[in-house]
Amino acid sequence: MPEENERDPAPKRGVSRRQFFKGVGVVGAGTALVPDALAPESAEAAPAVASFKPGKHALTLKVNGHSITLEAEPRTSLLYALRNNANPPLTGTKLVCDLGACGACTVHIDGKSAYSCNVLALDAVGKEITTVEGLAGADGKLHPLQEAFISKDALMCGFCTPGFLMAIAAQLKKHPAASLEELKHACAGNVCRCGTYPRIFEAMVETVQKMRGGA
Ligand code: FES
Ligand code: FES
Repeated sequence: MPEENERDPAPKRGVSRRQFFKGVGVVGAGTALVPDALAPESAEAAPAVASFKPGKHALTLKVNGHSITLEAEPRTSLLYALRNNANPPLTGTKLVCDLGACGACTVHIDGKSAYSCNVLALDAVGKEITTVEGLAGADGKLHPLQEAFISKDALMCGFCTPGFLMAIAAQLKKHPAASLEELKHACAGNVCRCGTYPRIFEAMVETVQKMRGGA
């Protein structure tokens, strides 16, 4: 039986959406303009609230083993921060739906695959982020999965490819001998509009065989 898909489209955040809006309200308006429905039930139950002024803030993210400092607004997603605010930009992570519905923006956060369009950049501070640019080894040798995608010609337009690679690689890191069903399950949240699924599945099988030393 495949394990439950562990992808976390909205990983636990240091600052929840409720906390975030409350924080912006406090700082931006000088008064806590928080609707009753969003307010914590009691002051005792309320967790510490981090406050961020509107506008750009300097953030340091750990991406592919390097610390990078960039400027981003509190509302900026990790996806936009990587693609638009990092210098140089990290455009391997693709923006497609921006809604957590296609998987093209998948990265690893602390080793787990996550939709970077659903994560605020400020919530990724202090976490280990890996993008598709960091999937190859430090010596530049491609990950066996990348090699298999090439040998099986498992892409057409390529927009979905980084997301598939990252989702499958996260599962392989945990279970190098994962079954095809488990690997399909790991990338169940990824969509390929070009319909290259059969070749992606072939690439998965080839990767596992290689990692077992069987090919
Ligand atoms: S761009 Fe993030 S899930 Fe589609
Ligand atoms: S190769 Fe085009 S969307 Fe997958």
